Amino acid sequence: MSDRAWYEDATIYSLDVKTFNDSDGDGWGDFTGAIERLGYLDELGVDAVWIRPFYPSPLRDNGYDVADYYAVDDRLGSLADFREFADQAHEHGIRVITDLVFNHTSNEHEWFQRAREDPESEYHDYYLWTSHPEDAHQRGNIFPEYEDGVWSYDEVAGKHYFHQFYGHQPDLNVANPVVRAELYDVLRFWLDQGADGFRIDAAHPMLMPKGHNATTLDETELGESIELFKEMRRVVEAEQSDAVLLAEADDEPEHLDYYFGDGEAFNLQFNFVMNAHLTYAVGVKDTWPLQRAEEILPDVSDVGGWVNFLRNHDEWNLLKLPEEAFQHAREYFADDAGDSWIFERGHRLRLADLYGGDRDRIAVAHSLLLSLPGSVALQSGDEIGMGADLSLPEREAVRTPMQWDDSPNGGFSAAAPEDCYNPVVDEGEYAYDRVNVAAQRGDPDSLLSRVEALVSARDACPEIARGDYRTPDCDHKETRVHRFDHEGTVLLCAHNLADEYREEIVGFDVDPDSVEHVVGDGGHSVAEGGVTFELDACDYAWLRGEKR
Ligand code: GLC
Repeated sequence: MSDRAWYEDATIYSLDVKTFNDSDGDGWGDFTGAIERLGYLDELGVDAVWIRPFYPSPLRDNGYDVADYYAVDDRLGSLADFREFADQAHEHGIRVITDLVFNHTSNEHEWFQRAREDPESEYHDYYLWTSHPEDAHQRGNIFPEYEDGVWSYDEVAGKHYFHQFYGHQPDLNVANPVVRAELYDVLRFWLDQGADGFRIDAAHPMLMPKGHNATTLDETELGESIELFKEMRRVVEAEQSDAVLLAEADDEPEHLDYYFGDGEAFNLQFNFVMNAHLTYAVGVKDTWPLQRAEEILPDVSDVGGWVNFLRNHDEWNLLKLPEEAFQHAREYFADDAGDSWIFERGHRLRLADLYGGDRDRIAVAHSLLLSLPGSVALQSGDEIGMGADLSLPEREAVRTPMQWDDSPNGGFSAAAPEDCYNPVVDEGEYAYDRVNVAAQRGDPDSLLSRVEALVSARDACPEIARGDYRTPDCDHKETRVHRFDHEGTVLLCAHNLADEYREEIVGFDVDPDSVEHVVGDGGHSVAEGGVTFELDACDYAWLRGEKR
């Protein structure tokens, strides 16, 4: 029996039901369609899926504008379909993490409708209002290209309400105990339906003082917000002891440990610091960003864990890079027309676009990712090298349907293309007839096969989760080795980010006869006390040996 929780070293696959697989031909993916693809996820070797919001919603922010926390958008299926999905996922050994948006609701949520109609109703205090916006605290909106600020006038209420995201996403007054009780009920409900945990959207804005108190984060005010996260954990654990709470908290490195609440709040959080640096490092072929990320990240090993990732469904946010690298990344990774830059902070491009379609580079990025301690999130479609569609508005560019094969709509849906939730990518080097699962399945050199091999290598290497981790010095700025020591074994994961061959000699104090090549095309020769990695452009190699 392992003393570690399943989520401490999980590979989590992020998908949106709307764009994954359509079973009934209406152009919208659905839970029944997702069930049909569980075999694919099983083969890929993932431990969990994180399914993005699927609740009834006006979909003005891709479902992150929830109109009802207790139902499934009927275009995506029914509650019974969700339960069936969870049951069948469990049969494949895959856990289900759902996305819960608690910082705000849609303005179409019944709570907001009641709140605006009747200032005397208890729902009014579910949100944050002012009649004096000129005196109210102003701070930047998170979507600065679309919103002027955080207060908007509501004609029905005759007052201004507070919103950190779009104006149609009024912030919930999460300091109100009645609201908190509502949120705890939502958590219990979805655990009961078969969820194994939650990604809590926008945990940073949830933590920030809101409304009139919306100053910058002041440690003295933190206690109460952290208490909310701790209570969420207690609620969840009381229902299901191994359920997970995963924070989306794109906060400053020095604040990140807050979210773990001394081991009593979130179990996991996304590692946005590593994300910016890792994806940048591989693109610019230099390892300094990796060192910097590890230097500025707090040591949280006693209180929680990171979920590392290369890309997600939002913009690739560069704000965690130092100023010079930020400016460089803004230019270096931009699309030709300059359409990819968004929110003054990132690119709405997929991983493949960022690396100019170079599959070897995408593969070495996955090797680096999957050999980092902690958990990992994979963005659906990146495992086959899908590209963005910049003709779509805003972040929808990176949310096109999964490309399964070369049949119409990439096998995603039998509907007419114009009826699909988003059109499938059908032009250029990432078009579905060139980039799809069927074409890569069975080809051992395909990106999909390589990612699959890495996921399974990670599973076969408990050292990554449990061993002592270090990064031996390398002679070249483009090479990086992760070393893990665990119960008498040593695992070395070597990577070359350069466009040319590199040789790197690293200490390897193991019995040469015990050395096992785990994964990767990179060559090696073991000598007494050391190993020489012989790495072509973008090669990687993982080696394991028994200590003498
Ligand atoms: C999170 C989501 C993003 C959404 C925002 C507002 O950052 O990842 O897609 O727009 O929250 O809910």
